[in-house]
This record gives sequence, structure tokens and C-alpha cells, in this order.
Amino acid sequence: MKRLSISVLLLVFLFSSTQVFAEYDRTQVFKVMRNNAKMMRQLETAAENEDFFAIAEAFMELARGSNAIKDYDPKRGTQSAWKKTHLELIRAAFDGIGYCANEDIEAIWDVIADIGALNSQGHMAHK
Ligand code: HEM
Repeated sequence: MKRLSISVLLLVFLFSSTQVFAEYDRTQVFKVMRNNAKMMRQLETAAENEDFFAIAEAFMELARGSNAIKDYDPKRGTQSAWKKTHLELIRAAFDGIGYCANEDIEAIWDVIADIGALNSQGHMAHK
């Protein structure tokens, strides 16, 4: 009996220690999403003007936003899909910052399009 309860305790511990999700915070998600929309507008204008500092800053803000909410357990869709999309967005944004170093405006437009596609992917799965 004692051994059984120790095993049960151990199982509970193992299960709870592998839970890395964070509780969904709707206020925080809305805050990030509104900022994302603002940053996408900033990216368009900054890319048109080839303002590489403003482009890099907007990419960094997008990466920060996704990083802040990537561990949430979404109300719709799976946590793994949620996390994967945010990690892809962070990677794309970091790539974009890298292209600013070479002033590679074509590659930057491609990254903006990729982030637009991740936006649609995220909204289709979770919104
Ligand atoms: C640059 C990329 C993105 C932009 C511009 C964007 C924009 C927005 C906007 C404007 C809203 C509505 C906010 C409001 O009504 O005030 C929204 C909601 C939402 N977005 Fe995004 N989004 C982006 C990426 C993502 C990604 C990657 C995901 C998920 C993986 C996501 C998931 C959601 C969800 C779940 C909601 C609804 C929140 C709720 O009702 O709890 N979005 N987004």
C-alpha cells in the first residue's frame, strides 16, 4: 500500500513537472496582438522608406511579443501548434533583423510576407 502511494505520488510529480504550459492570459494576448498589428504597419512604412533601424526595431518587437505568450495554453487548438507558430515567428523576425545588416530589402519583404502567413496560420488554428 505504502509503495503504491509512493508510486502514485511519483507519477503525479512527474506529470506535473512536465507541464510547461502557462495559463492563457487574454488581456496579455490582446496587448501583444494590437502591438503586432502596429508593428506590421511600421514594417510596411519602414521597408518602403528603407529605414533599416525602424525595420529591425519592429522585427524585435514582434519577436518579443511572441516570446511573451508562446507558453500559453490556447483556448482553441493545441499548445504544440501555438508554440511552434510563435517560435517560427521569432525565428523569421530574427532573420529579418539579420537582413537589415546587409540592407537586403528584397529578403526583408519576403520575411514580412512570411510573418503575414504565420499570422493567418495562427488565427486559423487558434482564434
Ligand atoms: C504579426 C502577426 C499577427 C498580427 C498582426 C495579429 C493581429 C491580431 C489582431 C489585430 C487581433 C485582434 C485583437 C483585438 O481585437 O483587439 C488578434 C487576435 C488574436 N490573435 Fe493574432 N496576430 C498575429 C499573430 C498571431 C499568431 C502567430 C497567433 C497564434 C499562434 C495569433 C493568435 C491570435 C488569437 C488567439 C487572437 C484572439 C485572442 C482571444 O480572443 O483571446 N495571432 N491578432
